[in-house]
Amino acid sequence: MKSKKISSLKIISSIKEMQKISLNIRKKDTHKISVIPTMGALHEGHLSLIKKAQEKKIITIVTIFVNPIQFDDKKDLTNYPSNLKNDIHKLKSIGVNYLFTPNIKDIYPEGYKTKVVVENLKNHLCGLKRPGHFDGVTSVVLKIFNITLPHKAFFGEKDLQQLVIIKQMVNDLNLPIKVISHPIVREKSGLAMSSRNLRLTANGKKIAPFIYRGLVEAKKEFKRNNKITVKKIINNLKKYYAINNIKHIDYIEVINPRDMSYPLIPRSGDYILTAIKIGKIRLIDNLKF
Ligand code: PAJ
Repeated sequence: MKSKKISSLKIISSIKEMQKISLNIRKKDTHKISVIPTMGALHEGHLSLIKKAQEKKIITIVTIFVNPIQFDDKKDLTNYPSNLKNDIHKLKSIGVNYLFTPNIKDIYPEGYKTKVVVENLKNHLCGLKRPGHFDGVTSVVLKIFNITLPHKAFFGEKDLQQLVIIKQMVNDLNLPIKVISHPIVREKSGLAMSSRNLRLTANGKKIAPFIYRGLVEAKKEFKRNNKITVKKIINNLKKYYAINNIKHIDYIEVINPRDMSYPLIPRSGDYILTAIKIGKIRLIDNLKF
């Protein structure tokens, strides 16, 4: 594939060096900093977030760090896909300025003790199914913010609960950072792009697109009858998934994204969210009503 743009991507692994670079950018004040935190194995979902961040007078910093403390399942951590060489090529081809890719022992040196906990919001959905997950996310994201010193930070709506929690943290802790979100980028089949899709089996790849198709059916039901209960929508979706060979549902919920409350009757602007296991691979998706 021919690259569109080969830039002088600078790859930084030292925390001190990254922080110094960011401090200098802020001192000069000719450019603002946008950070896009990722765990790598970059796909079009990540790239579209990055492209959204790229504007005139913006320095983009993409971070790649597979954060061990947000994995409740050690096997998931061991099997998490990584392909730094490929990622670097992609980042160069779209003209990213900096890649920050620190080592685990620098992010969590011996004696590391601090955790950032956003209460309540983590006690739902993925937070219930993955204990400690969001504490790991908020802890590392705050560290990334303190190292890269961004004016703006970009997160995908694919991880809706993560987005809500990070916004809450930024607000609660008065961080001078604008959090910007981006809609879910999907495969042609409708399947939400995810680094974990790489690990689906051939059969899993056939089944996985029904996750989104089911959410679309649920939204249609709501549009047809806005008095329908959440209970009914969820039951019908469970049936739809069963017919389409989706057997392991972690959860299906409808939430109001402002406070993660659970409505009994959905309203426009609420989200239906699901986490599904296809074989050993856990996939999440959501759709706005
Ligand atoms: P990761 O799963 O690599 O995702 C990095 C960012 O890309 C997140 O903001 C995520 O919501 C977004 N993203 C992933 N797939 C997407 C898709 N199909 N469409 C739109 N956006 C998508 O989320 C994490 O990493 C980590 O928890 C992190 C925030 C980096 C902290 O470790």
